[in-house]
Amino acid sequence: MDDEPAYSQLLEEIHRRYGFDFRDYARSSLRRRLVNAMHDEQLPDLRALRELVARSPEAMERLLRALTVNVTSMFRDPEMYLGFRNEVVPTLRSYPFTRIWHAGCSTGEEVYSLAIVLHEEGLYDRCRIYATDMNEFVLRAATEAVYPLPVLEAHAEDYRLAGGTAALSDYYGSRYGYGIVHHWLRRNIVFAHHNLVTDGSFNEFHVILCRNVMIYFNRRLQDRVHGLLFGSLRRFGTLVLGLKESLVGTVHERDYDAVDPRLKLYRRRA
Ligand SMILES: C[S@@+](CC[C@H](N)C(=O)[O-])C[C@H]1O[C@@H](n2cnc3c(N)ncnc32)[C@H](O)[C@@H]1O
Repeated sequence: MDDEPAYSQLLEEIHRRYGFDFRDYARSSLRRRLVNAMHDEQLPDLRALRELVARSPEAMERLLRALTVNVTSMFRDPEMYLGFRNEVVPTLRSYPFTRIWHAGCSTGEEVYSLAIVLHEEGLYDRCRIYATDMNEFVLRAATEAVYPLPVLEAHAEDYRLAGGTAALSDYYGSRYGYGIVHHWLRRNIVFAHHNLVTDGSFNEFHVILCRNVMIYFNRRLQDRVHGLLFGSLRRFGTLVLGLKESLVGTVHERDYDAVDPRLKLYRRRA
């Protein structure tokens, strides 16, 4: 494309000035988002977007929101949670304590969904959950744990399909059209800022979920992030990817056994 230099210069500017490294994100979807952001800012081209971002941290904040895809929901892909109950929970029962990392947790629904599963399996009190994202805006929402009631209610069936044994509404209180996740379900969860591209490992985990994050990365970056996840996972620890993602063809393909390849549940080899 003829605006290729402007595209690269914009990504370089964002990296140099703000430390966000989008250079190895998958091109077509990132370019689409940049062009949409350019139109939203009523700018003629990517060069003008670079100039705006260079002088305005507020514009950078808006751009960051436009560039990261934050779509998530309670019990997204319920079959994965059911598989987790059946295939992973028995292993977790043998640990005195379990550390879990949700990498790219967005607004927190995935984290609270797993917390509910762990509670119902009698494991929550033995777990510490670290949930991270590069986007401060979604992290704030995740920490607040307040969601519109109709949205929560729309996922009651997914909760049931995930093997839920109570009612999803047992896990939140309702007020003025919103549901707030009960405090007791939040107390073992730490939300923190972490960028998978630029930050390193910060602990050793028994379970890592990194779902629907690496689909936005190119192969080189996927390999790098897989290196980070592999290095952060204990021997025989569980890795959970998104249903559209795969270990096949990545550098660490041979370092895991598939617990359930359809559900993208993998166990790290010794
Ligand atoms: C589509 S959401 C997935 C949320 C959740 N894991 C799920 O599957 O429902 C992708 C999340 O990854 C985050 N993300 C993208 N690039 C990241 C990076 N380099 N480091 C950490 N998080 C990142 C985005 O901010 C976004 O919240």
